[in-house]
Amino acid sequence: MTRHDLGERARLALKRPDLLREAAWINGVWVTGDAVIEVTNPANGKVLGAVPALGEAETLGAVAAAHAAFPAWAARAAKDRAAILRRWFELVMAHRDDLARLMTAEQGKPLAEAQGEVAYAAGFIEWFGEEAKRAYGEVIPGHQADKRIVVLKQPVGVVAAVTPWNFPAAMITRKVAPALAAGCTVVLKPSELTPFSALALALLGEEAGLPAGVFNIVTGPPAPIGAVLTTDPRVAKFTFTGSTSVGKMLAAACMGTVKRVSLELGGNAPFIVFDDADLDAAVEGAMASKFRNTGQTCVCANRLLVQAGIYDAFAERLTNRVKALRVGDGLEGATDQGPLINAGALDKVERHIANAVAGGAGMLTGGRRFGTSGTWFEPTVLIDVPPLALLNIEETFGPVAGLVRFETEAQALAMANDTRAGLASYVFTRDLDRAWRMGEGLQYGMVGLNTGLISTEVAPFGGIKESGLGREGSHFGLDEYMELKMMCVGLAPAPV
Ligand code: SIN
Repeated sequence: MTRHDLGERARLALKRPDLLREAAWINGVWVTGDAVIEVTNPANGKVLGAVPALGEAETLGAVAAAHAAFPAWAARAAKDRAAILRRWFELVMAHRDDLARLMTAEQGKPLAEAQGEVAYAAGFIEWFGEEAKRAYGEVIPGHQADKRIVVLKQPVGVVAAVTPWNFPAAMITRKVAPALAAGCTVVLKPSELTPFSALALALLGEEAGLPAGVFNIVTGPPAPIGAVLTTDPRVAKFTFTGSTSVGKMLAAACMGTVKRVSLELGGNAPFIVFDDADLDAAVEGAMASKFRNTGQTCVCANRLLVQAGIYDAFAERLTNRVKALRVGDGLEGATDQGPLINAGALDKVERHIANAVAGGAGMLTGGRRFGTSGTWFEPTVLIDVPPLALLNIEETFGPVAGLVRFETEAQALAMANDTRAGLASYVFTRDLDRAWRMGEGLQYGMVGLNTGLISTEVAPFGGIKESGLGREGSHFGLDEYMELKMMCVGLAPAPV
């Protein structure tokens, strides 16, 4: 039975059609199944293909494969692992166009953004391959004259990773590359909405020389797969990117076997513009932060806090920029905004807008769904959003910029910090002292000062409070996959 729309497949126009895999990847074998999950293009609702709906038995098999592959992979010289990661990076970059088209088709983001994400994803493979060779331990002066203390860094073991749909490639390599570089083996469960990017990465990983069992992908519904990954004692480390509510449940399940846990959860990013800001830079920063991936990133500006003196000018310029955004199917010419991921996302955006307007917010542009197929929403700007509106207290995950007016720096800081989320925040000001005060005062894992784009493989990405645990990217990201082992060495007295 054909499980895809023929026109949709033709539109993909992949130079290497075999990059689209409709099978899971376990122990170096492509695994199919009778039950499947269809993958649709959110731009038009058409079926691109299907992946097997695997469950407990196959997940146990993948964990067993990763467990068996671990000793040999961990024992290889870091330089060897680095060479394989380097080849993987080169293959990903060589197939950038195909990977981007697949991503746009399954996720909806504009092709230029998908191209950018492929390079971002490859950057993690390159970076961590290089870092593998620098996983230095430490020698500590002994606490007694006849003692020496050495600290080794060793791979934690089998890593289970669960990744989201909003960045179908980069959120995978941000976890898998450091894990493999450290000497760990991996079982990945990608989002069932966007599995094709993950499977294409696995194919290229195999071509780069990753041995069977070192990187496994189980496709299927979250519950049975997650149940194994969070409870199997052979899994040493669990890493998740997704919603705060799901992250809390998964982390709790991991505690039964005291797994190491990293969580990259939801945000509620304040984007603060002071009267002394460079207005053009602030508007461009807001566009980049708010409308990247059609507002569907966890570091998207969620609340735009704008000082009274610049408020009207900022609102006007932002609205003009938003009106000029090209919204459309990324496979059909240059676009700036794509569809939202699904109907649930549309519902949430609508609910947030209705709630803000009911509370007194004004609409400057957008505000409606459109199109007869696909999940399309107009890029929207709202002003005078009440502080307690849903738009300000929940993560909207859509193309809606809601402006809130403030008067003083202290007021802005208090509003910004009044949330249990603590992922990303942004400040625009030309006052150096204020920039430092705000940078130090914001209770967030990341602060963008006069920039709306902060993500890179070379910097630590992660949140505080309920936005997560641990850091991804940078040399700190490698430590998440390594244990410290202390060896205390007792020395015999010197011969007389
Ligand atoms: C995310 O939305 O989870 C990640 C965004 C990024 O890496 O910039």
